[in-house]
Amino acid sequence: NFPGEIIVKEVGPRDGLQNETEMVPLEAKIEWINMLSETGTSYIEISSFVHPDWIPQLKDATEVAKQIKRNPDVTYAALVPNLKGLERALEVNVDEVCLFLSASESHNKNNINKTISETLPVLKNVSKEAKGAGKTVRGYVSTVFGCPYEGSIDTEKVITICDKLFTMGIDELSIGDTIGVADPLQVEQVTSKLLSYFPKEKIAMHFHDTRGTALANVLVAMNLGITKFDSAVGGLGGCPYAKGASGNLATDDLLYMLHRMGVNTGIDENKVINAAFYIEKYVKNLSSHQMKILNSQP
Ligand code: HMG
Ligand code: MG
Repeated sequence: NFPGEIIVKEVGPRDGLQNETEMVPLEAKIEWINMLSETGTSYIEISSFVHPDWIPQLKDATEVAKQIKRNPDVTYAALVPNLKGLERALEVNVDEVCLFLSASESHNKNNINKTISETLPVLKNVSKEAKGAGKTVRGYVSTVFGCPYEGSIDTEKVITICDKLFTMGIDELSIGDTIGVADPLQVEQVTSKLLSYFPKEKIAMHFHDTRGTALANVLVAMNLGITKFDSAVGGLGGCPYAKGASGNLATDDLLYMLHRMGVNTGIDENKVINAAFYIEKYVKNLSSHQMKILNSQP
């Protein structure tokens, strides 16, 4: 009982790279994003307009946005924490603005230096201005399934935050398992609860595969009618302000599963693998199952 079509949202150039300590050259990022643009994907998160000292790897966001070759069939999105970030993002005309905050006070404070109640008015302004500039707005809620500092997170608190984001007029909400602690039963419970408040068309799930549960979590969410999932090529990724937040769910592993199940994504698996081989020259070993198999072949 799962959907026949899934939208896979590529977050590799943003979430995938933000935790990499060795600077990936600008030219490589551009070439990589250009390769991803031709895979059939409809969405790429290209970078973050956050403070360059907080995420040094993405300090070249402006140049990346300026120099990539844009495919009109792809939405090019970027993370924006505040009005300063929005100003930078609008200067280079990103298509979609991604707001973010955490369901946990301590992760929020560590990640964006504010309490949740201090963050919400900032995001409200960003959303309003972004909408005024004709952009679509995506909202991220992090640590929904568990926090590296606080442990378990109350789903009621998540619902309250999601409600506030939707009231700001966001177009889509991405529910984050920032440190990859979710298990399928928990995903079923939290997703069911979310779907009793918000329409499934507006919800995406963002799993990290830290403990190997991401694909199982996808399947559970799919069975509840969720059709949008975030993933990163090769399983790159993690949040530097969430200890233990290793790789995102790998796009290549997700595509393998979905396509074998007869679920359509519109994305060419081989082209994604080529993009994984390309970026592998610049980052730590890719952790996806697909890349491990391919790298171990003689
Ligand atoms: P702050 O130090 O509190 O900022 O940082 P501030 O507002 O006090 O400003 C201090 C200075 O920074 C000022 O400059 C600002 O202009 C400047 P000064 O006047 O002193 O010269 N500044 C900026 N410069 C460039 N771009 C900006 C910007 N904003 C202020 N946007 C801030 C607050 C939010 C900026 C900082 O904490 C930050 O950048 N954090 C980003 C952290 C981050 O990117 N984390 C990873 C992404 S979240 C994630 O990975 C989870 C997700 O994947 C979902 C999941 O897995 O759950 C999305
Ligand atoms: Mg993430």
